[in-house]
Amino acid sequence: MTDHLTIVEHPLVQHKLTLMRRTDTSTGEFRRLLREISQLLAYEVTRELPMTTKRIETPLVEMDAPTLDGRKLALVSILRAGNGLLDGMLELIPSARVGFVGLYRDEETLKPVQYYFKVPTELDERLVIAVDPMLATGNSSAAAIDLLKENGATNIRFLCLLAAPEGVARMKEAHPDVPIVTAALDERLNEKGYILPGLGDAGDRMFGTK
Ligand code: URA
Repeated sequence: MTDHLTIVEHPLVQHKLTLMRRTDTSTGEFRRLLREISQLLAYEVTRELPMTTKRIETPLVEMDAPTLDGRKLALVSILRAGNGLLDGMLELIPSARVGFVGLYRDEETLKPVQYYFKVPTELDERLVIAVDPMLATGNSSAAAIDLLKENGATNIRFLCLLAAPEGVARMKEAHPDVPIVTAALDERLNEKGYILPGLGDAGDRMFGTK
């Protein structure tokens, strides 16, 4: 993946995202849509996975059939909203290893504070896909990527549902080697760090909290 930012403009992604943005979309529907979009985004972010071939037998003949190469990839959910992307992606990539990074945003400084970190072994040998639906200020995303790099990861991609220009710029400055895949690049952040037009608080909308 060479571009720093990839926007997945597939009609199904864009249609589902519009439904997710609407205030009148229920918690259950929001979760279902996020699961569906996560699979479409996963398709894009894994497009260039290394391949090899394996000798197999079909009912008729033998053939060298394409198969994934290398270590199982690692999906790392940035808690808690990252879990909404994780579930759908794991349906598509069931053998993926899974990690969690717990960061909360200090509402005054908007800076990330770590409270949990657990990731798979041999991160240096895996493609690591960090997932968080909202790339807003980029502070917590950049901090999560810092932690992954400190733990050996060298091949990292960042997958989100919505990105703000501020977050993309922050990530590009901190981690120019980490390609971002998103469904949309929105206009800007408001004074509280929410993405506009956005969809509100992704965690609250998927878990029904306030
Ligand atoms: N996190 C969210 O859930 N929503 C935003 O708009 C920004 C950060």
